[in-house]
Amino acid sequence: MPVLPLAPFLHFGRNDKRVRPAATYRTLICASASGLVILMRGDLERVLFDEPAIHRRLDEMAAQISDEYRERDLTVIAVLHGSLMFVADLLRRIPLPLKLECLSVASYHGKVQTSGDVIFIPATASRFGGGQTALPNVAGRDILILDDILDSGHTLAAVREILETAKPQSIRVCVLLSKKKQRAREVDTDYVGFEIEDEFVVGYGLDFRERYRNLPYIGVLRRELLEQPDK
Ligand code: IMP
Ligand code: MG
Repeated sequence: MPVLPLAPFLHFGRNDKRVRPAATYRTLICASASGLVILMRGDLERVLFDEPAIHRRLDEMAAQISDEYRERDLTVIAVLHGSLMFVADLLRRIPLPLKLECLSVASYHGKVQTSGDVIFIPATASRFGGGQTALPNVAGRDILILDDILDSGHTLAAVREILETAKPQSIRVCVLLSKKKQRAREVDTDYVGFEIEDEFVVGYGLDFRERYRNLPYIGVLRRELLEQPDK
């Protein structure tokens, strides 16, 4: 992040009506953005993977995927919203003529345990004709499903099942995080960024009640926050 001069800001009093230079506004926005990240850091018990660690692992995963899909018709299916950052950073490291489609899925409904009841929300419904299970046209293509985290397995098992009905050539699963635990539904993963303990994590796209997605790193949320009522 560029360091912007604070000097112009210092010449303006609180009630000063003069126009502030643009640099001053940029300074204020940068200062408050890093302040927000610091505020959210206080809600974490500990950081698990910082930005350089995530990016190093993405380099390795992208190299492997690029190699294995070189001569194939790759369609990436991103499971939104949790995979947003992961997908954006991973795909920019894969120099193949791939297609990207998105599926929105909800299974947590604001809780920390999955309900097992997976709802498909058509992310691009108008393009595919609408309807609850409108699917992209992936017949004969090699699908790579990208998701943020594998927990109980309900979500990815359901996504895989529904995509199989679209008759692709092949389906593989790639997750950034996989929890080491007994799963309600077994899911075979082909690419895993990191294996983690069975703890609730946030950041880098992962949320708790739709918050913390914009943290640039991944950390374990403080346990007492998980138990607080939703505001
Ligand atoms: P599953 O259906 O239990 O495997 O959960 C899959 C979805 O639940 C993921 O795609 C995430 O959106 C969410 N999820 C599971 N574990 C966590 C977590 O530790 N933090 C945030 N979201 C999680
Ligand atoms: Mg989520």
